[in-house]
Amino acid sequence: MGVATAKLFSSHGASVLIVDIDESAGSATVDAIVSAGGEASMLVADVALESDCKSIVEAAIERYGKLDILMNSVGIGGHGATPDVTEETWNRVLDVDLKSMVFISKYAIPEMVKNGGGSIINVSSVDGIRAAMTKNIPYAAAKGGMIAVTRAMAVHHGRENIRVNCIAPGMLYTSMTEHWVDTTRDLRRKIAPLGTEGRAEDIAMAATFLASDESRWITGVLLPVDAGLMAAGPQSLINNILDDFEYV
Ligand SMILES: NC(=O)c1ccc[n+]([C@@H]2O[C@H](COP(=O)([O-])OP(=O)(O)OC[C@H]3O[C@@H](n4cnc5c(N)ncnc54)[C@H](O)[C@@H]3O)[C@@H](O)[C@H]2O)c1
Repeated sequence: MGVATAKLFSSHGASVLIVDIDESAGSATVDAIVSAGGEASMLVADVALESDCKSIVEAAIERYGKLDILMNSVGIGGHGATPDVTEETWNRVLDVDLKSMVFISKYAIPEMVKNGGGSIINVSSVDGIRAAMTKNIPYAAAKGGMIAVTRAMAVHHGRENIRVNCIAPGMLYTSMTEHWVDTTRDLRRKIAPLGTEGRAEDIAMAATFLASDESRWITGVLLPVDAGLMAAGPQSLINNILDDFEYV
């Protein structure tokens, strides 16, 4: 999602600072943007650390002079029902997925204020709204927390013209989920009302709208980009996965 969004932001004229803990993941995106004529650079950082969050914002200002848009899309999974949760997994998932958006925003918001406003886009998950297909207590906590923090930040910074919104992706096919076998991938596609497979570009397009002035009056919103999954009740999804089911 970060790759697709960086490319789309760049195609709309943004200079993009790409942050990843994995240099190869980010530098390939920088190369693609630069060879298409855009402006991008990369910073290797661990968003779970406050010191790195500070460096990320400092690098954006140093390289590009100002900060208009912050997209918090880094996320890692955290599996296990409550009896299975380890302290180590809990801490890492909460730090990477939830703490990071707070501490990057902590340094980004004052820079946006200097510049007359900005747009922060947080990437949560449908798993932060309702229980997932898999058991994932740390992930659910982090993603649910992102939705609550988005709303609070939107309220706290509205008068500074900083808009804060949250995207809840459904069950897409991306590098995070490409390890699923074909039957699982097919089920993830079929269960949602539209029945088509989501791609990283679907999130990028929603993020570009939320980053742009076209969404100037939208803040504090939770936007599912999920082929209709969150509109459905559990009972209404049965027909999507059982082709021959008849309600008699
Ligand atoms: N793929 C899905 O189906 C899906 C569904 C719902 C929500 N999401 C959420 O969407 C977001 C993006 O998902 P994706 O599929 O693009 O994930 P992805 O795994 O493809 O990309 C995440 C990137 O974050 C980087 N990263 C991991 N830990 C880091 C750290 N500590 N510091 C800096 N970088 C780090 C990884 O190296 C990776 O390049 C995540 O927050 C994820 O939880 C994904």
